[in-house]
Amino acid sequence: MKRIAIMASGNGSNAEALIKKAQVLREHCNCVAVISDKENPGVKLRAQTLNTEFYSLPIKTNKVEQEKELLVLLNELQIDWLFLAGYMRILSANFLQNFSRNAFSPVINIHPSLLPKYRGKDAYEQAFASGDSFSGISVHFVDDGVDTGPIIAQEEFPRLKSDSLEDFKQRGLAVEHRLYPQVLEDIIFDRLKIPEKKSR
Ligand code: GRF
Repeated sequence: MKRIAIMASGNGSNAEALIKKAQVLREHCNCVAVISDKENPGVKLRAQTLNTEFYSLPIKTNKVEQEKELLVLLNELQIDWLFLAGYMRILSANFLQNFSRNAFSPVINIHPSLLPKYRGKDAYEQAFASGDSFSGISVHFVDDGVDTGPIIAQEEFPRLKSDSLEDFKQRGLAVEHRLYPQVLEDIIFDRLKIPEKKSR
């Protein structure tokens, strides 16, 4: 049985897709917690509606303290894998080193571009503004850079000439909601190749 937690700062549509997948695969996986750096993000209601415990861990004094609390929580809950889903903070190298299982940091992120293109914030906006005729979604291991960890899965989607930014985002989000749960399933059934050492 794999125990996972999700970290999200906002709306939580990816968190919802992951929780639902974990519930389908409940004999193999338990989505134990949704954790946020915000008090009352959209993801809170989604988690609660799906009977998943929600924890708010805002930065009270500083990020170092918040990451210490996070580490304690993840260890208490015996989390095997941490999924970032719209978590708007960078986890420190120190946190990643300390949150390790078999000398590996089991932390994964989803990013709405074909990495290494358009790292960082507002990736949909960056990709849309580029005029590229297609974009994509990437799921990757998290290292201490910004969207720099080894890539696990990518899927392209087209940008149509008639698209508004919103049309473009909605098409991408539909891909996200399929791709991220697929990676979760791959993890649950040990189909994922773990990188031997972190690379950038
Ligand atoms: C998604 O586009 C995800 O790729 C990015 O942040 C957004 C979160 O959306 N990292 P949601 O909160 O899951 O709806």
